[in-house]
Amino acid sequence: MTPPALAGPLPRPIPPRADAPTTGTARNDAPRTGPPRTGTTPSGRLIAIASGKGGVGKTWFAITLAHALARSGRAVLLFDGDLGLANVDIQLGLAPGATPGHDLGAVLAGRTRLAAAVLRHPEGGFDILPGCSGSGVLAGLDPAALTPVLAALRAAAAAYDTVLLDLGAGLEGGVRTLAASADTLLVLATEEPTSLTDAYAVLKLHTADRPGGDARIVVNQASSPAAGARTYATLRRAALGFLQRDPPLAGVIRRDDRVREAIRRQALLLTRHPGAAAAADVEAIAASLCAGAAALL
Ligand SMILES: Nc1ncnc2c1ncn2[C@@H]1O[C@H](COP(=O)(O)OP(=O)(O)OP(=O)(O)O)[C@@H](O)[C@H]1O
Ligand SMILES: [Mg+2]
Repeated sequence: MTPPALAGPLPRPIPPRADAPTTGTARNDAPRTGPPRTGTTPSGRLIAIASGKGGVGKTWFAITLAHALARSGRAVLLFDGDLGLANVDIQLGLAPGATPGHDLGAVLAGRTRLAAAVLRHPEGGFDILPGCSGSGVLAGLDPAALTPVLAALRAAAAAYDTVLLDLGAGLEGGVRTLAASADTLLVLATEEPTSLTDAYAVLKLHTADRPGGDARIVVNQASSPAAGARTYATLRRAALGFLQRDPPLAGVIRRDDRVREAIRRQALLLTRHPGAAAAADVEAIAASLCAGAAALL
């Protein structure tokens, strides 16, 4: 079958930052030593990843995108914003609680500063701020209580080129607040009707919270690029018809058994299966996100 023509707008690159650091290697798999850069950049870029529906691949995508951006020379902080059930640390094999003081809970409790709480992923070349896995400490936070979290993230963003927020499932206060506060929101959807409905709901709330804000669609677990394009077209039609909004497609990621295998082994897909279709798809998204900044890296 011929894939439907994608009449949607092309993904927009992240605008270049005049103050982007000029250091960094073309493919930076080597651990960057020392603490995150500080004082080199007045502002970083916050990208949140949401879906509404659970289990569509947000955490895996956030980790893999962080890795892809780090490999292209960006300084990246991955923040586990799944406040109820932090799980970046689980997918990466960082034992929760094994590194006391290195999580958002410690920062909010005033026990440590955010810059001191981040962990380095030695192989991935990016930094991580874990949530509080399983503790539920953060789940009960109302949106107002997120103000210090957001302030800490904004402060941290100054030392990074990109801060990625892996948000939890659902659309409740905390998720909504964090999604609305990001510079760019990536809305993950799969072809499942319930996922499409939830992705639409995320877009609807974002439109209310950030009229004209930057929200883009990522279709995950697509059975083919053409099927992914159809999923996007469906979501786009609904957004155009009911929200008068035209969210661009950030990219389509194909369903790939090697994703499951890598997660099972708590390994990074780009290292374990660099030739995987899903790896190429995430790298293409990373490249398009920073295309505008490429000359500065
Ligand atoms: N492109 C893909 N191909 C195949 N399987 C995938 C792909 N993306 C995600 N998955 C599968 O989806 C599962 C759920 O992924 P993940 O935990 O990242 O989702 P999530 O959206 O973060 O879930 P939650 O809402 O519970 O936080 C993974 O364990 C993996 O098996
Ligand atoms: Mg998750």
